[in-house]
Amino acid sequence: MIFVTGGAGFIGSNFVLDWFEKYDEPIVNLDKLTYAGNLENLADVVGDARHHFVRGDINDTNLVSGLLFKYKPRAVVHFAAESHVDRSILGPADFIETNIVGTFRLLEALRAYWAELDDHSKADFRFLHVSTDEVYGSLSKDEPAFGETNQYAPNSPYSASKAASDHLVRAYFHTYALPVLTSNCSNNYGPYHFPEKLIPLVIHNALSNKALPIYGDGQQIRDWLYVRDHCSAIQRILEAGRPGETYNVGGWNEKANLDVVKALCSILDELSPRVDGQSYRSQIAFVSDRPGHDRRYAIDATKLKNELGWEPVETFDTGIRKTVNWYLNNQKWVANVTSGAYLKWIGKQYGNDEIA
Ligand code: NAD
Ligand code: TYD
Repeated sequence: MIFVTGGAGFIGSNFVLDWFEKYDEPIVNLDKLTYAGNLENLADVVGDARHHFVRGDINDTNLVSGLLFKYKPRAVVHFAAESHVDRSILGPADFIETNIVGTFRLLEALRAYWAELDDHSKADFRFLHVSTDEVYGSLSKDEPAFGETNQYAPNSPYSASKAASDHLVRAYFHTYALPVLTSNCSNNYGPYHFPEKLIPLVIHNALSNKALPIYGDGQQIRDWLYVRDHCSAIQRILEAGRPGETYNVGGWNEKANLDVVKALCSILDELSPRVDGQSYRSQIAFVSDRPGHDRRYAIDATKLKNELGWEPVETFDTGIRKTVNWYLNNQKWVANVTSGAYLKWIGKQYGNDEIA
């Protein structure tokens, strides 16, 4: 049995679904169900005896310890986090509470659980901490992609909180010999992505005849990876990664934001054209830049390829087409997550009804 935190969020739910397509091993899935956690993401595994969902907070040590001793997992995969940079700028407190304090409390519960295991189970146990490339800060146009030994230089409250959690995880390996693994992945996209992040927001706004907001000049670069490729990387690292090591995960797909938005518009023009015959590009609107906006992220995933033989399956072209198709075919999911609290947040972030 494995234990997953944050398995009702975007990447966590894709991981759970992907896992059950490949393995019969059960999962205990602990998720607080914040605005970003959604049980509809897991509709395909409702009633599946392999899936044990528990609503709860990683900060609740009694609950986490109880679950660990009850289910005795051989591994923990830690996705739970506050994950949106813009939200971290407007209100960093939740990021400190979940990403730093929550990871610390989880590590403490794990340390106590792991100490009680027999020698064999102790040696086999793994804690995989799912982190981000944003901990490395921002690259200039010509700098080489981030390697695992790059210095940490986080620039947003989100990336600083993830960096702090990475350091805690590292310390638990060196100090207590807890068998940890850390993955630092680039920007993901795909099904069940909450429409506050660039790609799903643009698809949703395009189809709702709203503006497609581009921060600043739109020339910021991100390295995009299809979410199921991230899931396969995590599985591979869990299987064969060396304890104490970190692995960078990326898709070799660097794209400027404006080019991503134009690509989305072209696919939508083809698959779901506007009634007036105009391109969705006519909805693009340049808006104020994000404070402290990182200019470029790029991941060098050579270590993961050479050591563990992992490579992504999707190119940006295949992955983005699958993604647009998924959103077109799952408008009900989108409608459900774009009501209520979501709208309140969008209003606060963009302060502009036309864009919201
Ligand atoms: P998400 O925001 O979609 O999901 C986070 C999940 O964690 C939600 O289901 C939420 O309910 C849950 N959660 C939040 N606080 C919790 C708490 N205190 N206790 C229990 N559950 C809690 O995030 P995501 O995009 O799926 O990211 C998952 C992980 O991957 C995060 O750690 C993130 O830093 C990392 N990551 C994300 C990306 C990306 O592009 N989305 C890239 C690299 C790494
Ligand atoms: P996002 O999806 O929030 O991911 P991250 O900030 O973690 O990289 O944003 C991706 C890029 O798109 C980032 O450079 C910010 C930019 N962006 C916009 O230009 N407009 C938007 O409305 C959003 C949400 C993001």
